[in-house]
Amino acid sequence: MKILVLNGSPKCEKSDTMHITRAFLEGMKEAGDQQIKTINAVEKHIEYCTGCFACMHNGGSCMIDDDMKDILEDILASDLLILSFPLYCYGMPAPLKAIIDRVLPLSSMEMEKIGERYEHVGQADCSKLNYVMICGCGFPNSKHNFEAAVMQYRLLFPGDNLAVTVPESPMFNAPQAAPITGPRLELVRQAGKMFAQTGKVDEELLAVICSPMIPEEVYASIVNGGV
Ligand SMILES: Cc1cc2nc3c(=O)[nH]c(=O)nc-3n(C[C@H](O)[C@H](O)[C@H](O)COP(=O)(O)O)c2cc1C
Repeated sequence: MKILVLNGSPKCEKSDTMHITRAFLEGMKEAGDQQIKTINAVEKHIEYCTGCFACMHNGGSCMIDDDMKDILEDILASDLLILSFPLYCYGMPAPLKAIIDRVLPLSSMEMEKIGERYEHVGQADCSKLNYVMICGCGFPNSKHNFEAAVMQYRLLFPGDNLAVTVPESPMFNAPQAAPITGPRLELVRQAGKMFAQTGKVDEELLAVICSPMIPEEVYASIVNGGV
């Protein structure tokens, strides 16, 4: 399978979230050969979408000449797009959002009603693409934190796509937390393997992966300088 990872963390390979993503990919690799390409959003030259809509009328050609052209080709050549990003202000970090805005050339201006909402009709064939969102965050709570990012992902990529949201993720970069983060990453690896084999992750396994690794009060106390 051809997998494209869009890493939205400005910390690139040092990203807390990328620990989760790498474990997921390791599991996928156990199930079969995977061709993986990772793009660090912050390292690319991506101008902001100007909203001219030219691309939606001219068959999909953006007026801006920057790295987005190659990224669009990478997206179209992939079977699986993994959005790996830390939660920033309850959403995705700006460098990744800039890329997402610039996928507009894949859609035409024409609108169609699908179920209860309207979507733009595609002008590129994305039918073989599947999606996974992997998101870490700094707070210990999952509720009242990830909802907006997950909702945006579900509206962008309709369907029953996998969203992996893990609170307390700075722990993945703390070597002293390895006895706790190691077992969690092992569960993520199992989820990656299951996903590669079946296209899904067991709901109970996902619920454990998305839960706090240590009690939230303990985590908050450590962050606040306590024991
Ligand atoms: C600008 C900014 C905004 C953030 N907003 C949130 C937030 O809304 N909720 C949260 O739980 N953590 C928030 N965080 C914390 C990060 O999600 C957290 O540090 C995460 O582990 C960083 O992951 P990374 O190493 O993959 O970039 C924010 C961090 C920054 C720098």
